[in-house]
Amino acid sequence: MTEAWGPDDDEPRPHIGPVKVRVPAKINLHLGVGPLRMDGYHELNTVYHAISLFDEITARHGDTLTLTMEGEGTGELLLDETNLIMRAARALAARARVPAYARLHLKKVIPLAGGLAGGSADAAATLIACDLLWGLGMSRDELAEVGAQLGSDVPFLLHGGTALGTGHGEAVSPILARPTIWHWVVAIADGGLSTPAVYRELDTLRAGSWPPPALENADSLMSALRQRNPEVLGAALGNDLQPAALSLRPQLADVLKAGTEAGAVTGLVSGSGPTCVFLAADAAHAHEVAEGLTAAGVCRTVVTARGPQPGARVI
Ligand code: C5P
Repeated sequence: MTEAWGPDDDEPRPHIGPVKVRVPAKINLHLGVGPLRMDGYHELNTVYHAISLFDEITARHGDTLTLTMEGEGTGELLLDETNLIMRAARALAARARVPAYARLHLKKVIPLAGGLAGGSADAAATLIACDLLWGLGMSRDELAEVGAQLGSDVPFLLHGGTALGTGHGEAVSPILARPTIWHWVVAIADGGLSTPAVYRELDTLRAGSWPPPALENADSLMSALRQRNPEVLGAALGNDLQPAALSLRPQLADVLKAGTEAGAVTGLVSGSGPTCVFLAADAAHAHEVAEGLTAAGVCRTVVTARGPQPGARVI
């Protein structure tokens, strides 16, 4: 790839060649869900963690805006104006007052509606790719502002690493600790779960409980992260959405049990599910757990992953 602007030139200019951006999936190490707000979102205290499952967006110049794809979910994911990639490109173009002309191609690995923020990841990658292709030179904060309108997890996926998320998840602050590499086993289910449906189910499960469940802070998770011990981190992982995901998809209990029986430190539903993630002690242990989980035949695919990973980046 060639740089399109020279050393004497401050102004970003459109990029000539294709721009390729890689973006990770996210899991939530802690997902504290508060009450439903007036705007239809729930207040969150979450700890995001980016893991090594990556989608890739390639952006080229075009006379109009088009989207093609290959990989996971091809034929299932709508590629029309409702797609978050198209919406991200349009939102960025509108903000910058430029025409939304690009040929976008998605290489998809992150499962659809899996609780790994695949849609938000693709939107984040599109913002980075089109910003460079169109020579907008926007800051990551400006892109995050555009992204927050598209999906709660977009600002985090621009950022990556391990970070605290508040508001409805869109307000992200990095966790500055020297990062430890954590090893995960990811159990991908057949079919997805709708995020709004899982939040609605949580509201139903909580209805009538008094006092209303408090929004749990992430302090114990943060202190566990600092101890760099998988057993300690395992004991601190938690997801308020898990009972709701299990209520809508009771088979997930078998997946969690199979992962634990395969020797995982611990397992939990990722975000709104149905993907389940398991913490392993190291890379070799992750492979062992993945083999055991695969043999149990309780999910569609099992992969290993590491975190933290950087957010959406040009490659
Ligand atoms: O922002 P995102 O597109 O991921 O949210 C999808 C839906 O999930 C929202 O429309 C809302 O129904 C639910 N949600 C929520 N509280 C949040 C995040 C999402 O209720 N903090």
